[in-house]
Amino acid sequence: MKKITIAVDGYSSCGKSTLAKALAKKLGYKYIDTGAMYRAVTLYLLRLGAEKILASASLIASTLRDIDLSFRMTPGKETSEIHLNGENVEKEIRSMPVAALVSRVSAVKEVRKRMVELQKEMGKGKGVILDGRDIGTVVFPDAELKLFMTADPEIRVRRRFNELKAKGINITVDEVRTNVSARDYEDTHREESPLLKAPDAVVLDNSFLSEEQQLEFAVRLLENQDPDR
Ligand code: DC
Repeated sequence: MKKITIAVDGYSSCGKSTLAKALAKKLGYKYIDTGAMYRAVTLYLLRLGAEKILASASLIASTLRDIDLSFRMTPGKETSEIHLNGENVEKEIRSMPVAALVSRVSAVKEVRKRMVELQKEMGKGKGVILDGRDIGTVVFPDAELKLFMTADPEIRVRRRFNELKAKGINITVDEVRTNVSARDYEDTHREESPLLKAPDAVVLDNSFLSEEQQLEFAVRLLENQDPDR
């Protein structure tokens, strides 16, 4: 069975990672959560004093050289988790302070350049599925399958709210709505690699689809491309 590269792009909180993880499991592919990488950089900056670093391009560049990012398996978990200089930060990067700053950090040219370099290296060799905002347009423009995911904004807000609540994070629906719409705006309006649908990406609107149905949709696309897959 020929292995391919799968790119999943789309808006915040529309189920990209749920689909990407399920697809990776089904196909036996490696999964790379590129949003987790931008979040881990943001966490690192927050710990050091983000404002000071973000004010200087040379400080950003030197700070990036001190950041080592890797995805490692955690016993008992099905997918790998992000490690920042060896520390598992998978939970901490989902916090609101990180969510509030990550779009700003991910708009910085030096940050994007470094992350794209790392993602190309991590994803080389096929049999890989990456989710993010610029995977099908910038990181792997030659990906054999590209999905562009979207869902009704209010449905995305509810999903994100329920997800955070289930994790014990104390937050209101209004706070989640403000964050999701701010990130949508910033991700689509930034100068560097804004969120765009690649011309050859297939749109998947999962507003009214279950997790199983969206997985089925993707698997059917793969089968239509190559019945042996
Ligand atoms: O997928 P996520 O919500 O965890 O991503 C966090 C932020 O990182 C998001 O607001 C935009 C940014 N991001 C990006 O600019 N490019 C990517 N490939 C992935 C994420």
